[in-house]
Amino acid sequence: MEINTVNSIRGKANIPGDKSISHRSAIISSLTENSVAIKNFLFSEDCMNTLEVLRKLGVSIEKINGSIIVHGKGIKKYREPEDILYVGNSGTTIRLLSGVLCASGFNSILSGDSSINKRPMGRIIQPLREMGAKIFGRDNDTRAPIIILKGEKLKGKKFVIDISSAQVKSCIALAGLFAEGATEIIQPEVSRDHTERMLEFFNAEIEYDGKYTRIVPGKKLEGRNIFIPGDISSAAYFVVASLILKKSRLVLKDIGINPTRSHFLDILMKMGANIEIKNRRIMNNEEIADIESSSSFLKGLKIEKCHIPNIIDEIPVLCVAAAFASGETVIEGAGELRFKESDRLNSITSQFRKAGVEVYESGDCLNINGNSKLKPEGGRFESFGDHRIAMSLAILGLKSSGTFRIMNSECIDTSFPGFKYELKNLVH
Ligand code: S3P
Repeated sequence: MEINTVNSIRGKANIPGDKSISHRSAIISSLTENSVAIKNFLFSEDCMNTLEVLRKLGVSIEKINGSIIVHGKGIKKYREPEDILYVGNSGTTIRLLSGVLCASGFNSILSGDSSINKRPMGRIIQPLREMGAKIFGRDNDTRAPIIILKGEKLKGKKFVIDISSAQVKSCIALAGLFAEGATEIIQPEVSRDHTERMLEFFNAEIEYDGKYTRIVPGKKLEGRNIFIPGDISSAAYFVVASLILKKSRLVLKDIGINPTRSHFLDILMKMGANIEIKNRRIMNNEEIADIESSSSFLKGLKIEKCHIPNIIDEIPVLCVAAAFASGETVIEGAGELRFKESDRLNSITSQFRKAGVEVYESGDCLNINGNSKLKPEGGRFESFGDHRIAMSLAILGLKSSGTFRIMNSECIDTSFPGFKYELKNLVH
């Protein structure tokens, strides 16, 4: 992808459906005994991989007028797959479905691309084993491919875990739906709660409050139609672009502003961003709103560890905002970024520095010395096959003095197909 300098962006951007909610909508609907219509489903590579895996498990899924209908028949009607279940680049697919498959009563193997098969899976294999699952992984049970063997009924358990990961929490909660007795999960910090909200919307017996989640099996899930809100993590790229470019103004409609996801808006506002949140409403147990943003003078700030899970996917593009802010931005306790689609601390520092951004990593911290007059230098940049790095570099390149050539940018299709066309439409 090539990005050249632009003066401003203006208009209304179409933001595709939320990735996390799309995955959950398909998986959880398949566990009901209802046909669930899902509007604004995200047809990105990651979510298509979830649909493909569900089809291999015998779930019938139709596509009608841009929506999908998942014909849920419940886990008892899942069938043993004839082949390996391929999840591509998607951590949410492999981690959430591992939880479900441990309760399925048949054998299965999950594998993904070279990035997924390097990412940590011990964090789900260990707790699922403690529930009685027969689950194994490569490299001493720490990596995919993951093998799940038919086993005994799972047992509910109380987990006090030391990482704040919604994928881990959701994996355990979904396994807990089919266990004997209650399952409790306590995490150090609050992570996104879409699984809890959707299970509650489908009438499961679930309690959750910040760091605590408790699920009691036995209650029948009642599938209800779902509207997937626009993905706030995808919206973040255009919001930041509108802030750093002059004479820019942007309107984004129907964006999910779940409080466990929208903290980067609070951070940007503290940095001085002109952002307004309008028309707040609730749809299928998720908060939705319209976001308006415009050119701003930003100042750096310090972001503490406790907020990291709530901005985990927005940190690369927050670093773009910080690069143009006056003063220093410090992001503390961001070590989890090393376990994403790429080592994002390293991806950010190595590529942003090439463009002339003063950014340093030390341990699990990032420091950025912002400069409101920064003109990033053009050149060849590596995305490391990581969609969020590719899109953040594209936004950085909008203020460049030359051309940004971003390698392997097709990875953007994992979460935001059409990103470059949407961006082009906004340019003035
Ligand atoms: C996700 C959770 C986050 C996030 C990922 C999607 C989810 O990962 O980075 O893009 O859908 O649950 P962790 O919760 O594992 O940090």
